[in-house]
Amino acid sequence: VLEEKDAVEAVRCPHAASRAHSLDAIPGPTKWPFVGSMFELHRKGGLNRQHEALVDYHKQYGKIFRMKLGFFDSVNISSPCLLESLYRKEGKYPQRLEIKPWTAYRDLRDEAYGLLLLEGKDWQRVRSVFQQKLMKPTEVVKLDRKINEVLMDFMGRIGKINVNGRIKDLYFELNKWSFETICLVLYDNRFGLLKKEVNEEAMNFITAVKTMMSTFGMMMVTPVKLHKSLNTKRWQVHTKAWDRIFSTAKVYIDRRLKNNSARAPEDLIGDILHQSNLSKKELYAAITELQIGGVETTANAMLWAIFNLSRNPGAQRKLFEEIREVVAPDQDPCGEHIKNMPYLKACLKESMRLSPSVPFTSRTMDKDTVLGDYAIPKGTIVMINSHAMGTNEEYFEEGKRFKPERWLRENNNIHPFAHIPFGIGKRMCIGRRLAELQLQLAMCWLVKEYEIVATDNEPLNVIHSGVLVPERELPVAFIKR
Ligand code: HEM
Repeated sequence: VLEEKDAVEAVRCPHAASRAHSLDAIPGPTKWPFVGSMFELHRKGGLNRQHEALVDYHKQYGKIFRMKLGFFDSVNISSPCLLESLYRKEGKYPQRLEIKPWTAYRDLRDEAYGLLLLEGKDWQRVRSVFQQKLMKPTEVVKLDRKINEVLMDFMGRIGKINVNGRIKDLYFELNKWSFETICLVLYDNRFGLLKKEVNEEAMNFITAVKTMMSTFGMMMVTPVKLHKSLNTKRWQVHTKAWDRIFSTAKVYIDRRLKNNSARAPEDLIGDILHQSNLSKKELYAAITELQIGGVETTANAMLWAIFNLSRNPGAQRKLFEEIREVVAPDQDPCGEHIKNMPYLKACLKESMRLSPSVPFTSRTMDKDTVLGDYAIPKGTIVMINSHAMGTNEEYFEEGKRFKPERWLRENNNIHPFAHIPFGIGKRMCIGRRLAELQLQLAMCWLVKEYEIVATDNEPLNVIHSGVLVPERELPVAFIKR
């Protein structure tokens, strides 16, 4: 749910249509039979550049357009007003686009669905169990000890593998850091990914998650039923990866369920495992999906924060000054420090605006709904293009510049629905608070110890690969302060 303050301050949308037009009246790119605008998208750089194509389409057709890609038909929106309207009309159980390859696996193996896949009352029942702990800042701040335990190892590793300031394959190192953190939070187990010799089991687990992620995209646009009935190589690899993920996660969850006696007071997931009335099968699915939701996204957001700080030494200097003021030289940054660091929070927010990890989310309309000038029928897929909104000059003055200060001004005029890196409403990211704390602490530890410098000033192209990633190795160096 949007923060209460934001929701109260939310500006009313000026244009509520008196007579809404039909879906067919929504403008959009070519709608050729069968292929829709597939060729046009291909000309614009294909699925890898779809985030840029979406920005272009919004420029061309406005805040709402309709697009068909093969059989995938969607209404695309990118305006705070339309989003606010969607939010205010949201039902009890908002739905996202179904990830069919994942549900097909669960059905095959008779496993449950977690938050990424559940719908309706079942989604709400599971969500409310996790919501109580994971969306409460006072609960999440208790995780700072675990987050810091991993950060300490991460800093040690950065020190060791740093060659003249350069870290080889920084993104992979960040992936290991976020994986290690979420596993410690969820399974209370260290996987040793930041050690020199990484153990085989940990590597198999991380590889299985990557394989599962890299094999499902194609089965979203070609029928998964076909892959399953033909037992295609892709389906086999995908299934095998899920088998590995579930079997490993189950071992750790079972171990936690057995060892109830020595639980620390800040162990939120332990509380959920022992106090909720979710079945074991539901816990396996929910916890596994939390892990999948949290690894790549957090690592990616950290990568972009490092990049943005490297290209904006003035902002980094200010951040360093804030860190020096709040954290004593002999202290490690912790959750309590973060409360007094508005500039740090603004830097993260600005980095997620300028370089979001997740460029869009979706809703499948659960009832007929009027959005702006159009009547959107039940069952329509609405794509919420948050990336296109965050880079739009209409909503962010000097939108291409990294200006954390914009978030600190009293009357900043930023529409509360213009910045939604974690989605909106009841289905907003449940890991938001954890991710923010983890990222804020990591920025604090890094900037306290290193000056992050840009090693070139060439443009950095961005490609869409589930999340938005840089096309080349990040041109940054870490210089010890
Ligand atoms: C959902 C982004 C970290 C678990 C989402 C959504 C977005 C998102 C955009 C869709 C929300 C919507 O449809 O309105 C991010 C970003 C992260 C991050 C940018 C890090 C910077 C995490 C972490 C976890 C997590 C750390 C796990 C602890 C989930 C889950 C959902 C979700 C389970 C589905 C929630 C539901 O449908 O009820 N995330 N996420 N995410 N995220 Fe995250």
